[in-house]
Amino acid sequence: MLAATSGAELIDGKAFAEALRARIGERAAAFAQYAGRRPGLAVVLVGEDPASQVYVGAKAKACEAAGIASFEHRLSADTSEAALLSLVERLNQDEAVDGILVQMPLPQGLDEQAIIAAINPDKDVDGFHVINAGRLSVGQEGFIPCTPLGCMMLLKDRLGDLSGLDAVVIGRSNIVGKPMAQLLVDANATVTIAHSRTKNLADIVRRADIVVAAVGRPEMIRGDWIKPGATVIDVGINRLPPEEGKERGRLVGDVAFAESRDVAGAITPVPGGVGPMTIAVLLRNTLVAAHHHAGMPVPEGL
Ligand code: GUN
Repeated sequence: MLAATSGAELIDGKAFAEALRARIGERAAAFAQYAGRRPGLAVVLVGEDPASQVYVGAKAKACEAAGIASFEHRLSADTSEAALLSLVERLNQDEAVDGILVQMPLPQGLDEQAIIAAINPDKDVDGFHVINAGRLSVGQEGFIPCTPLGCMMLLKDRLGDLSGLDAVVIGRSNIVGKPMAQLLVDANATVTIAHSRTKNLADIVRRADIVVAAVGRPEMIRGDWIKPGATVIDVGINRLPPEEGKERGRLVGDVAFAESRDVAGAITPVPGGVGPMTIAVLLRNTLVAAHHHAGMPVPEGL
């Protein structure tokens, strides 16, 4: 979904996510009619991290709007690992729960990998479990992390076939960079993974038809690094320090947007690009999990 601008076309992730959420809503209603229950997502938040509280609230709201039951579990920051593991085990067994999401980061003292490992991989709608990472790496069906899958949907919508295109992914996290690179390889792109130790990053970016920036450093990718006509997907959401007289700083991506929009063929804005896709894909993964759980075929259009 594209909107015309002076230079690059803007990739309107917000509109794409809204359309996806509308399709999910229709299919969730059909699921409920057939299965006699709504699809269900359990969201676990440990502690009071303000950003995480905002995300978890937004997830619950989006679920309800799409006809997906949301089960919120808010636990205090001093929750023990044993107590959290026991909650995860209860949710694994709960027939009303199709998807489980434990909001990261967890407070100090809780082992994130141990908690993720305890989630039933077939309820791991975040796609964080090693079983799902392994499935992605060998080409088996499984859950794919929401942000890279959302980026891939935007890329395919814009470019169609990615075969033979040069792609660079900047960032190598388990949640975004690595699965993003895997998805691009699976789509027959030629992929470079760049990171904080990469030499000559500007030159690598200059060769790329597709740039996916997921480093978490405000406006690090400059406009004169972008190949004319390239498609730029900016995963970064960084808040700058407030300007004089302002209470809050501006939100910017990892790409210097004003410089890049004149060079790129298409670019995601921040906010309103990749961000809205993450929750929409979480709902999508939950609906897919519900169909598997109920032994129903996954409907088209997700
Ligand atoms: N923290 C930031 N993003 C995410 C996400 O996509 N899933 C989970 N579980 N935690 C997060």
